Amino acid sequence: MKRVLSGIQPSGQLTLGNYIGALRNYVLLQEEHQCFFMVVDLHAITVPQDPAALREQTESVTALFLASGLDPAKSNVFLQSHVRAHAELGWLLTTLTYMGELERMTQFKDKSSGKESIGAGLFTYPSLMAADILLYDTELVPVGDDQKQHLELTRDLAHRFNQRYGDTFRIPDGYIPKVGARIMSLDDASKKMSKSNPNAGSYIAMLDEPDVIRKKISRAVTDSGREVTHDPASKPEVSNLMSIYASCSDLSLGDIEAKYAGQGYGPFKKDLAEVVVATLEPIQKRYREIRSSGELQAVLKQGAENASVIAEATVRKVKEKMGFVLP
Ligand code: AMP
Ligand code: TRP
Repeated sequence: MKRVLSGIQPSGQLTLGNYIGALRNYVLLQEEHQCFFMVVDLHAITVPQDPAALREQTESVTALFLASGLDPAKSNVFLQSHVRAHAELGWLLTTLTYMGELERMTQFKDKSSGKESIGAGLFTYPSLMAADILLYDTELVPVGDDQKQHLELTRDLAHRFNQRYGDTFRIPDGYIPKVGARIMSLDDASKKMSKSNPNAGSYIAMLDEPDVIRKKISRAVTDSGREVTHDPASKPEVSNLMSIYASCSDLSLGDIEAKYAGQGYGPFKKDLAEVVVATLEPIQKRYREIRSSGELQAVLKQGAENASVIAEATVRKVKEKMGFVLP
């Protein structure tokens, strides 16, 4: 059994990209590994959050974790802020991180570009993410493509710490899906599908009503050709829709090409909408049940208790190695 850890920010509606790139894989991994899945609320506040909205989104994302199939009997589901060791190790690792490393992070460049007041926490975000991972002796980190760079920095920090203070951290590996690691926007296939895009037509939210999903897919941008073929370089939009199709069904990209050969985009998009609706509808139903049942609190309490035991022990070991006088 390997240790697996990942996290999602409660900074808006989760999208189909989050589901395909991350959540769906969590659900598969929990069957064979010891898993830790967090809602990373401390990361969310690296950009301004309205307190009431943050509270609501945190509960909503936790409920979506469970509704997608995370089982509290198999996975530890918790909030990052409930386990104090995250903030503490985050600080310790921040002191080990170089400015130049943080300046190179594309997520920081994207999120800060054009902004006047940029919080220092947005800059040091990757050190906190490294802490999240290293606290648990994590071996595998299931994430989408966009998190590769952060993961690489985590590995570098773990190496650096081990060299300076002696062998302490396990070096984690990414677990990145072959199809669906980067679901793109429906209106622009050069940008990743993101909940922070102001155009709601650019993404499918996991909680979008079936008719909204159908409308968004029918309006999704495609090129002027008519062949349903997978070629991200020359047909980025159709290739993206095909990745979504393959991720939400048991057809491969090749199966999809064969199925729609000579038929044009119309029938393909119509079926795609139904495949996506069939994937999300049962999740939405469970989501509503979970939200009205009040079961979240107990799940989060247990998850945080389990996580704290491991995380506290790691922080103690780290502080000892660094030369802190322990209480
Ligand atoms: P975030 O929403 O930025 O907190 O991301 C949570 C997880 O979802 C991370 O593992 C991301 O890599 C993944 N993710 C977010 N957007 C996408 C996307 N468009 N395609 C694939 N994975 C994604
Ligand atoms: N930075 C990740 C994202 O934006 C979220 C995250 C925080 C995370 N801590 C993590 C992912 C630890 C994996 C492991 O998607």
